Amino acid sequence: MPSYVITGVSRGIGYEFLRQYSGDSNNTVIGLVRNKQATEKKVSEDPDLRGRTNIHIIAADVTDYNALQKAVSETTKITGGALDYLIANAGLITPFDQYDGIGDLATQPDQVTKELRALFEVNVIANIHLFNLFLPLIQKGHTKKVIAITSGYSDIELTRNWDVTLAPLYSTSKAALNMVIAKFSAQFKKEGILFLGLAPGSVDVGQNNEATPEQLQRLGAFFGELAPKYAPDFRGPITPEESVSLMRPVIVEASLEGSAGDFISHFGNKQWL
Ligand SMILES: NC(=O)c1ccc[n+]([C@@H]2O[C@H](COP(=O)([O-])OP(=O)(O)OC[C@H]3O[C@@H](n4cnc5c(N)ncnc54)[C@H](OP(=O)(O)O)[C@@H]3O)[C@@H](O)[C@H]2O)c1
Repeated sequence: MPSYVITGVSRGIGYEFLRQYSGDSNNTVIGLVRNKQATEKKVSEDPDLRGRTNIHIIAADVTDYNALQKAVSETTKITGGALDYLIANAGLITPFDQYDGIGDLATQPDQVTKELRALFEVNVIANIHLFNLFLPLIQKGHTKKVIAITSGYSDIELTRNWDVTLAPLYSTSKAALNMVIAKFSAQFKKEGILFLGLAPGSVDVGQNNEATPEQLQRLGAFFGELAPKYAPDFRGPITPEESVSLMRPVIVEASLEGSAGDFISHFGNKQWL
């Protein structure tokens, strides 16, 4: 009876994790969301998910430490005190910096401070608390895997080699998350716990729906130049279904020997696109 806790299952990649993992009735799948009622309604109206008794939705804004503590108590009741997989998927992607280089933000210093703080709250600090709070359950689990959904944008080598200027604040927060994973791994791999950062690829979750034509042009120009050389097989963003279908075997195959504390992509390597 493998058990999963996944944060941010209300939509996007997290909802797809919920859908795919709960498809196996042997799995117990616990999703953390900010709006429990809305997600329960969405699940009950989804022809695939409705009636699946192995789905449990718990209310928790991941930046609320008390809510995370309560989520641990509720999970303990559901699983009997153990947890096999913790997937830290909830993340903040701010439109503010998605289409600009870091120097282009120089004229908005207050906004830079505000956005970076918000990004660190969700993408970094919340996950430190999440991992520490769920650790006693993971220690009692069989599989002992903690996965943080990171981003190829966080790879310093990619940034250096290909002059990736976009999303500088978001990338910084995910690079910090990678270090959080490495530090947890350094301390807990001797207990057999795998901590791993996993990037989902470029996934269409509607994140550019509100972009201006100029922003879309900048994004298109960047990918148009990068992709043919860096990833000749890249045909544009993939769906959440494709991304999660690629990540699941990577999660199964990831081992302490091969990837403790590392961050890898949906291809199981350092190819991000
Ligand atoms: N899409 C991509 O191309 C891409 C690429 C690289 C990495 N990622 C990463 O993949 C993960 C999933 O993102 P996505 O693409 O599926 O984006 P999304 O559709 O924007 O989903 C983000 C999810 O995170 C949740 N969330 C945000 N802040 C939260 C908080 N404070 N407490 C609890 N939940 C919170 C959202 O819940 P609400 O519905 O309550 O807002 C939502 O469920 C993120 O970590 C993201 O950084 C995505």
